[in-house]
Amino acid sequence: MDRHTAAARLVTELTRGCVLEVGSGPRGLASHLVGTVARYDALDRSATATDRLRTWLQVGAPAGAWGVHTGALADLGRLPDAPPPADVVVAVNVNAFWTAPADAGLAAVAAHLRTGGRLVLVLETPDDVDARVDPALRSRLTAAGWSWDERTDLGGPRRVALTASPGGSRAASPAG
Ligand SMILES: C[S@@+](CC[C@H](N)C(=O)[O-])C[C@H]1O[C@@H](n2cnc3c(N)ncnc32)[C@H](O)[C@@H]1O
Repeated sequence: MDRHTAAARLVTELTRGCVLEVGSGPRGLASHLVGTVARYDALDRSATATDRLRTWLQVGAPAGAWGVHTGALADLGRLPDAPPPADVVVAVNVNAFWTAPADAGLAAVAAHLRTGGRLVLVLETPDDVDARVDPALRSRLTAAGWSWDERTDLGGPRRVALTASPGGSRAASPAG
């Protein structure tokens, strides 16, 4: 199973409601989620990526079921075209969550989630997962007061997959 299929499975286990993908790149999870969830929004700081994704979605994807936004995660709450609050925020292969301090990004995610919402993170590497990834990710989530469930069934030697909740308590699954 590829990383996008694994991430989409985690997302749809949690909700069929509103989903925001952070760091979508030019295609992201759109083909897995548009039409499956009530609303799919993508955010990427690369205008090249968001232009390509928007162009692709404009051909055939139902209007009102999706949105594409250009900007950095930390600025999510300040975007002029802010996406609607999400039941799930998902990020696939976005290193910002385990490299440099992730506090601003995690705070932006927490502020964007509806009550009971979750963050889905999938990180995949071409070789065995770098031994720094897991501890770095865990320590950043812990420092920011998040709890998480690692999904070893959808992870593996080359992939970390987890769902996380802000506030340190294990949140109930959001309504979908
Ligand atoms: C390695 S690519 C992964 C793209 C896609 N998710 C995938 O799995 O193929 C990382 C993407 O995240 C975006 N990105 C990285 N940090 C970001 C941030 N802080 N805010 C918004 N986008 C970010 C980059 O512009 C890039 O498109």
